[in-house]
Amino acid sequence: MWQFLREYLSAPNTVGALAPSSRHLAASMTASIDFDKAHCIVEYGAGTGVFTREVATRKRRDTTYIVIEQNDRFYDILRKQFHGMPGVELIHGDAGTVCGFLREQGFRHADYIISGLPFTSLPRQVSHRILSQTQKAIGTEGVFTTFQYTLLRKTFLEHYFNIQKIVRVWRNLPPAYVLHMKLKCCRRKQTSANSAV
Ligand SMILES: C[S@@+](CC[C@H](N)C(=O)[O-])C[C@H]1O[C@@H](n2cnc3c(N)ncnc32)[C@H](O)[C@@H]1O
Repeated sequence: MWQFLREYLSAPNTVGALAPSSRHLAASMTASIDFDKAHCIVEYGAGTGVFTREVATRKRRDTTYIVIEQNDRFYDILRKQFHGMPGVELIHGDAGTVCGFLREQGFRHADYIISGLPFTSLPRQVSHRILSQTQKAIGTEGVFTTFQYTLLRKTFLEHYFNIQKIVRVWRNLPPAYVLHMKLKCCRRKQTSANSAV
């Protein structure tokens, strides 16, 4: 909690929250994941690992779980908790290069990407780079799930994805919206037409 507050005060725009998310938000963020079928799950901006714990304990042993965090201190906290867990790949890096991380793990697409990134406070260009990469990373079948405290960036997100469902989670401080998204139809056709690796 204090660690989180300290990191927020030193980088408010990239940390984007005063405290870690609740387990109720973690449950909602992972609700669309079919843990029996997923081969590859990705998380952006894991922070102190609230969503990471949920996925790491529920995923199959042979499911690859790529966890990307760019903050030094949060990355250390994640390493202490999850280093060496089967199938968990901790990456100290930028979610904007997710396709490269997927390739390194032998995947072209992720089945699910969950994101804790604060798109409302990240610079627009940074968000654009991350969301463009995410379109490629989920391909035609993947699901991209993010949470936001307001719906200010809903239209911005709709430039990239079709929003399938929005769920309000009250038991979080502050209450949050969880958005489940898929690739937009026109983009899906384009992607399948160019589907050679
Ligand atoms: C709002 S916090 C969410 C933390 C955690 N998922 C939670 O819900 O408690 C946002 C996190 O995104 C990380 N972050 C911001 N920009 C990033 C980027 N480009 N790549 C990876 N992580 C990033 C921050 O360091 C921070 O840990």
